[in-house]
Amino acid sequence: MKKIVSMCGIVAVTGYKKAIPLLIDGLKKLEYRGYDSAGIAVINSETKEIICNKAEGKLKNLICNVSHTNIEGTIGIGHTRWATHGKPEVKNAHPHVDNSGKVAVVQNGIIENYQELKNRLEKDGVVFHSDTDTEVIPHLIQKELIALNKLKLDNNGSTLLVAVRNVISDLEGSYALAILWAGAPESLVVARKQAPLIIGIGEGEFICASDTPAIANLTKIILPMEDEEIALLTPLGIEIYDSNNERQYRNPISLQISEQVIDKMNFKHYMLKEIYDQPDTAKNWLEKYLVKDSNTGKLEVNYPFDTKFFESIERIEIVACGTSKNAAMVGSYLLQQFSGIPTNVFYASEFRYSPPPLLPNTLTIGVTQSGETADTIAAINMEIKRRSLMSEKRYKPNILAITNRVESSIGRKTSNIIDICAGTEIGVAATKTFFAQLLSFYGLAIKFAQIKGSQSNQNIRELISDLVQLPPLVEELLEKHNKSSAKLAHDFFNVKDVIFLGRGINYPIALEGALKLKEISYIHAAGYPAGEMKHGPIALLDKKVPVISIATPGEVFDKVISNAQEAKARDAYLIGVAPDYSGTEIFDYLMTIPLTSEWISPLISIIPLQLLSYHIAAHRGLDVDQPRNLAKSVTVE
Ligand code: M6R
Repeated sequence: MKKIVSMCGIVAVTGYKKAIPLLIDGLKKLEYRGYDSAGIAVINSETKEIICNKAEGKLKNLICNVSHTNIEGTIGIGHTRWATHGKPEVKNAHPHVDNSGKVAVVQNGIIENYQELKNRLEKDGVVFHSDTDTEVIPHLIQKELIALNKLKLDNNGSTLLVAVRNVISDLEGSYALAILWAGAPESLVVARKQAPLIIGIGEGEFICASDTPAIANLTKIILPMEDEEIALLTPLGIEIYDSNNERQYRNPISLQISEQVIDKMNFKHYMLKEIYDQPDTAKNWLEKYLVKDSNTGKLEVNYPFDTKFFESIERIEIVACGTSKNAAMVGSYLLQQFSGIPTNVFYASEFRYSPPPLLPNTLTIGVTQSGETADTIAAINMEIKRRSLMSEKRYKPNILAITNRVESSIGRKTSNIIDICAGTEIGVAATKTFFAQLLSFYGLAIKFAQIKGSQSNQNIRELISDLVQLPPLVEELLEKHNKSSAKLAHDFFNVKDVIFLGRGINYPIALEGALKLKEISYIHAAGYPAGEMKHGPIALLDKKVPVISIATPGEVFDKVISNAQEAKARDAYLIGVAPDYSGTEIFDYLMTIPLTSEWISPLISIIPLQLLSYHIAAHRGLDVDQPRNLAKSVTVE
C-alpha cells in the first residue's frame, strides 16, 4: 500500500478577533514544520460559509493570495505542509473540504488506513479532489453529521464534537486535527493522537496549534492536550474529553518562552549566522553549566540532577535522528571511553520497533533539538511504557532528554532534562544546536567520570579547562575559515560526490559533515569510518571524487593518515581537516585547525565542515535555510 505522508503545522482560532492575521502569524511560526504549500479556511462572519484559500510553495504565496481578498471571519484553521507523497500542489494543500463545502479539516500526521476508508466512501459515490490521506476526514465527518441530524441532535458544536469523535474512532495512524463546520459557526473541534497539539487561552479567543511559538504572540497561558484527547473550543470556553469520553478538568500552565526577535544581522542566511553564533553558544553553555564549587573554588558541571541519579546507572542507550544522532555518537564515544559506561546509540526509528532487551539500571537518553521528532518521542514513550511494566525498582524509568526546547513534547515526558540553551535555530540544517548537544554530552561524560571514578582528577580538570578555552578558539576558526572555505567552495561546488572520513571520536563528525553537505547542497556525500573505506567505498574513488579527511593527533592519527594515503593512491583530491602537524603534508588542501586534545577535537573539526557546506550550497544559489523536501521538525515517522 502506498502511504501518503503529510507532516505539517496546524493552527486554529475562535474568538472575537479577526482570524486571518492570527492564523497567518501562527503559520509563520510553524513554517519550520514544512513549506511545500499552505492554506487557511475561515467561516465568513456574514454568510456563515466556509472560505478556503490555499497556495503552493512557501507561506509568502498564501500571504500574497490572502492580501487580495477581503474575507472577514473570527474563526478559522490554517496549515503549512510537508509532503513526501501527494505532490505539493494546491489540490493537496490543506484545508480539505467535503463536497458540500460545509466541513473543513487541517491535519498533521498520517492516516494509515485512508485507502480502505477512501474505497468505502467512493463506493458510496463520494468524489475525491486530492491525493492526500486527509481528505477522507471531511467526507467522513459530513456523513456522520448527516446521520446525527437524523437523530435530531442540535446544530451546534456538540454535534460536531460527537461526529468527529465517531470518525476518529475509525482512523488508524497518528494525527492532530482541527475542524470547522459551517453548521456551528463559532465552534472548533480539535483532536490529537501521537501528534502534538496545544491550546492557548487568549483574551477573548482560544488558539490551538502544533507548537507553542504559534501561540506565544497571543497568550502565554496554555493547556497542552494529552494523547487521544478531543476538545471543543468556542469563544465562551473549552471542553476537553479523553478517549473514554470522560470530561477532563485541569489547570492551564504558563508558557516559559519569550517571544524572540530573530534577526539575520548582516548575514546572507540564517545558517551562516547560526554557525557564527557558536562562540556564544559555547559561552552560554559554559556559564550555565560550569559553576565554581563553593568549597574547592573549582569549576564543576552543574546539571539539575542529584548524584544518586548518576550512581545507579550501569549502561546507557541513546535514541535520536539525523544530526542529533551524530551528536549522540560523539556522546557515546565519550561516555564509553572517558566515563567507562557501556553505551549504545540507536536510530530512534529503528529502536521503536526493535529495541534491545530491557536491562536493569539503564539510562535512556532522547536527543532532539526540536523536542518534537516523532520517532524519538515514540522511542522514548515506548521505553517509558516498557519499564513501567516491570515491578522491580532497578527497571524504573530512567529517562533523560537533551533538547533545545524544554517546553516541547520530549520536555513533558521527563523531569530529567538538559536544556542545551542554543537559542532559536531557524536554518533547517542544524549547526549551533549540534554544537550545544555535543557540549551537553561533554558535561554528562565529566559527571559520570567523576561519580564512577573512571578518570583521574587531572584528566577531568584538563577536559574542563579545554572546554573553557572553546569560545575564543571557535571565534578564531570562524575568522580563519570563512573566506578560505568560500574559495574552496568555488572550486568544488560542481562535484557530484564527496567522501568524508574520520575515525574514533571524529567518525561521527565525518557523518555530520556529509549530512550537512547533502541536505543543503544536494550533492551526494557519504561519511565513513576511515578504516572501512578499503572494504568497499574505495571503489568509488577517482580524481572526480574529493575526499575530506578529519585527522586530529591522538589515538588514531597515523591510521587516518594511512587511510588518506590509500585514497590519494586512487587519484582522489585530498582535503584535510587537521592541525599543521607532521603527516598532514599529504593533503592537497589543508583546512587547518588548532592542535587540541583529541577529546575536544569534534567541537573544533565540525566548524570548517559547516562553513564548507554552507559556502558550496550558497555558491550553487540554493535555498540554504529551507532546503527542498526538508523540515526543521519531523513530526511523522
Ligand atoms: O529536532 P531533532 O534534533 O530531533 O531533529 C532530528 C533530525 O530531523 C535533524 O537533525 C535533521 O537531520 C536536520 N535537518 C539536520 O541538519
